[in-house]
Amino acid sequence: GAAGVLIYNNVDQAGPLNPSLGGNEMDIPVGGITKASGEALKADVLAANGTVTLTVQAFEGATSENIIATRTPKKGGGDGIVHVSAHYDSVPFAAGASDNASGTAVALEIARVLKSYPIDEELRFVFVGAEEIGLLGSRHYVSELTESEVARSTGNFNMDMVGTSWDNATAIYMNTLDGQANIVTETAKATGERIGTPSELILYQRGSSDHVSFYEAGIPAVNFIRREPGTASLEPYYHTPLDTIEFISAERLKEAGDLVGASVYQLIRK
Ligand code: PHE
Ligand code: ZN
Ligand code: ZN
Ligand code: ZN
Repeated sequence: GAAGVLIYNNVDQAGPLNPSLGGNEMDIPVGGITKASGEALKADVLAANGTVTLTVQAFEGATSENIIATRTPKKGGGDGIVHVSAHYDSVPFAAGASDNASGTAVALEIARVLKSYPIDEELRFVFVGAEEIGLLGSRHYVSELTESEVARSTGNFNMDMVGTSWDNATAIYMNTLDGQANIVTETAKATGERIGTPSELILYQRGSSDHVSFYEAGIPAVNFIRREPGTASLEPYYHTPLDTIEFISAERLKEAGDLVGASVYQLIRK
């Protein structure tokens, strides 16, 4: 099914919000989470996953937390780990529908759909806090991985801005920090061909999202982002008060979910 879009608001950075968004500085329920807590997201994560281990990591310098849902395979499974991630904080003045309720919603939807499939490798959904203030949440997350967990990590599928309805954003970019293909880009490419993903997939060298933290830990990592091909520009409402649900495409969310979800599945089944 199509992913539901959740609008999460700024959870770290104090500052005035555009009054048209409603709410106020202290507690801003725009449709999901509030500044005060991640309770709504935790409930969503549990509902999406069924039987999982839920871990919440708080860390210095932010009020948002990492919310991690872990599914482990039954006995006889492999020892790999696949990390699906999306940040759920946003910036002041922006509702954060595209950046990054879109990635959050798609990650939740993938968790919900995969719930009914057996898995052979460990699958983690990492809802990342404090991306906007310097990748704090994802840096903390990888810093807590043991050497063994890092070594067993097959890859990281990060989604940041996957649902804009902007006409020009016709391509899905696969950003890697070094610009090189890796197991995640190769799996997504093959999956896109197999399922007939409508949009062009473009491999591109770029950091600026949580895949950087995974890459720096030595884990093959990709940020999936819908963008206009052939330019360096992001969508026009990026980090503005117009980053609202009105400019989100359900169809494009579904496309991202099909692509990333089916790719993840390739890597967690023997
Ligand atoms: N990470 C940026 C943000 O959340 C968005 C972005 C992603 C910018 C990829 C450039 C490249 O604001
Ligand atoms: Zn910790
Ligand atoms: Zn942002
Ligand atoms: Zn973002």
